[in-house]
Amino acid sequence: MPTQEEIDRVIESTDMVELVSPFVQLTKQGKNYKGLCPFHNEDTPSFIVSQEKHLAHCFGCGQGGSPITFLMQIKQISFHEALQELAEKAGIQLSNMPNTSRKQDYSKYYEMNKVACEFYQKSLKSTKSGLEALDYLHKRGLDDETIKMFQIGLAPKSRDSLYKVLKDANYLELDMMDIGLVHKNEMGYYDLFTRRIMFPILDENGKHIGFSGRIFENTDSNQPKYVNTKETFLYKKSTVLYHLDLAKSEILKKKRIILHEGQFDVIASARAGLKEAVCAMGTALTQEQAFILRKYAPTVIVCYDGDKAGIQASKKAIVLLKKAKLNVQLVFLPNRMDPDEYVMKYGTEAYAKYFEESIQSELDYLFEVAFFNRDIKDVSQVELIKSEIFSVLSSQRSQTLIHTYLNRLAERIGVSSEIIQRDYRTSFRRNTFTDVPEEIVPEPVFSQVQRNFETRLFLYARESKAQALQIDREIADTLDAFLPIHQKIWVTLINAYYSQNDYFNEELFCKMLNEEQKKSYFEIVESLQKSVDPFNEEDLKKCMEKTKEIHFKNERDRLRKQISQTNDEKVKIEKLTELYQSKSKTSKRRK
Ligand code: UTP
Ligand code: MN
Repeated sequence: MPTQEEIDRVIESTDMVELVSPFVQLTKQGKNYKGLCPFHNEDTPSFIVSQEKHLAHCFGCGQGGSPITFLMQIKQISFHEALQELAEKAGIQLSNMPNTSRKQDYSKYYEMNKVACEFYQKSLKSTKSGLEALDYLHKRGLDDETIKMFQIGLAPKSRDSLYKVLKDANYLELDMMDIGLVHKNEMGYYDLFTRRIMFPILDENGKHIGFSGRIFENTDSNQPKYVNTKETFLYKKSTVLYHLDLAKSEILKKKRIILHEGQFDVIASARAGLKEAVCAMGTALTQEQAFILRKYAPTVIVCYDGDKAGIQASKKAIVLLKKAKLNVQLVFLPNRMDPDEYVMKYGTEAYAKYFEESIQSELDYLFEVAFFNRDIKDVSQVELIKSEIFSVLSSQRSQTLIHTYLNRLAERIGVSSEIIQRDYRTSFRRNTFTDVPEEIVPEPVFSQVQRNFETRLFLYARESKAQALQIDREIADTLDAFLPIHQKIWVTLINAYYSQNDYFNEELFCKMLNEEQKKSYFEIVESLQKSVDPFNEEDLKKCMEKTKEIHFKNERDRLRKQISQTNDEKVKIEKLTELYQSKSKTSKRRK
């Protein structure tokens, strides 16, 4: 273990603002810096960084701490790894680190991969099958300059040619096996990669950590298209981003990163001048990779294959990238193409032009792909499109935005905007109210109106603002018919919520309620779920009538009580008159 003094020295030598900045946009506030917490979602900054105290702490979720703790949490690494990284940055020598010799060993491994890479590159140029492979690459549009830039090579046919090269260079068999270049069986050592076009994989700093090999001869169709280096201490596929080393400078310049699915796509983009492109290697994007990207730019443009799998993968990537606080934009390619196919078909210039002109926001993209592979002339497919878009919109806060997309949807499928608006609201009601599992639907209870008029009015009020205001105009003076807590919820809904919003959103509304009211509100929702009466205009009228009826009954009870309690004849007559008027009011409404 390093000594406490060494640890303290590392902490004190670390500039907290510099350390945090790649992950959090900080603004100065007095002595400290402030920003949105990278560990939880928030709208107002509660992540405070103190340069002086070498601390970063979130007052919202409690994460953070010393530079070491921060690094451990944000990079998901161990204490020792974090300490080592900071010590290296600060130029501090640590004593007794576990595996302190590892660093030296690592350089040997990087070097071995580099030797292999050089061997593969040479094989591409100097062997017969190399010419074949070169021909394949040329046919896929890669010129010699590109091949050189990406250090592309060939793993020859022979079963152990790389092994021999490494052996001649005095590398140990165990080391070759450790980094996944060589295996051993009863016949001896053999190369892991043979008869494949080899793409070296470099880490962020341009060090060789592994390979991806693609078949190029159409011989054995049982072979996987790509074979990548297995997980080693150098090659961790969940953190690898292909081409990041070369893309870095362009990323910093353009302040954006392009994310593709495969390495041929990255190469296609680079050929078209989009040098800020990277991809994960044979895996879906991981949260770690998203955090790594965040170090380099604030925006990621996802451009995956324009097919169903590509769309699915894009949707998953959006979630992870947003978690890493990245702005996400997308480019959707037509005719199920991937970037490499687009470039092959239309050329690099057309691709670059298409790319720049087709950058979409996340919502525009999600709206667009809801139509993918669906026929708007088929009614049942239109329903699928609608429900997909409704579900995207339901998580949006801005009513203006929801409105805009609903209008766009209406136009696209050729129905009136009013109808779509209504469908949107009913779909919402259905999801909240009638998705009740069979077993908890109670015995039919007739005449719910008798008892549940007030809860049912909440349902109608949620359906639309216009309806809510209309109901309120009718019953505002008779609200004493509601339970006291329901009265408060009603007033909040009408006077607070609908004065700021045009559509009902449960989450937003609940934010306006206190805990007790929220509980009561959910009891209302629950009782509505159990309701078996149809919700319709007639029922709405009945509910409003019932409210008034109870109000007048309360009034009469009050008056009767006052009459019986007073001896003053004048007051008695006054109250009796009032009572008479209230009775006639009710019967007039009744007719
Ligand atoms: P794709 O199957 O989309 O291939 O895999 P591609 O990128 O279009 O490749 P080409 O154009 O046919 O050469 C996307 C990525 O997934 C990984 C590779 O990194 C590939 O670039 N992959 C694919 C594998 O790791 N193994 C495979 O067998 C296939
Ligand atoms: Mn491809």
